[in-house]
Amino acid sequence: MNNQRASIGVLTVSDRASRGEYEDRGGPAIREYLAEVLTSPWSDVSRIVSDDQPVVEAALTQMCDERGCCLVITTGGTGPAARDLTPEATEGVCQKMMPGFGELMRKVSLEKVPTAILSRQTAGIRGQSLIVNLPGQPRAIRECLDAVFPAIPYCIDLLEGPYLTTDESRIKAFRPKK
Ligand code: MTE
Repeated sequence: MNNQRASIGVLTVSDRASRGEYEDRGGPAIREYLAEVLTSPWSDVSRIVSDDQPVVEAALTQMCDERGCCLVITTGGTGPAARDLTPEATEGVCQKMMPGFGELMRKVSLEKVPTAILSRQTAGIRGQSLIVNLPGQPRAIRECLDAVFPAIPYCIDLLEGPYLTTDESRIKAFRPKK
């Protein structure tokens, strides 16, 4: 068991938020969610970047390789618009994709909003880091993370990262018995 403090990347991808024209609501919502759910020690590495694929890829690479984040959660840039390219940037830096995350998040989101099919959100593995995309809409953050979070601690175990524990009254981490 690896008891080190988890570094978790929180990456807001938004042209307007990166220029300060728009208040970042996604990053704070992700940090609030993590504070509510995680009971093991963690700290965040947070950034706001523009919707430029090389910029998003550089931020993801820095969080994974230099800052040692076991988990990076992005918000924004998953839709169909010309500047939406967070899934491409994620795929561009990952060695393997984890399509089940996007499938499940779209499934639960569709129960809330028909436009959930417009999100191309995905997830993937870079080295020992799991990268998960969320849509930019702040209320999507809780809806999506509630669905996939039960599987995240075990995914990080398989990547030999820190042992994440959760407030079980909120989210029960599922670890298959050995
Ligand atoms: N998923 C949830 N759970 N809740 C939402 O409000 N908004 C959708 C979709 N997924 C939404 C959602 C909409 S309107 C869009 S355009 C896409 O996410 C992409 O959003 P993004 O480009 O901000 O990532």
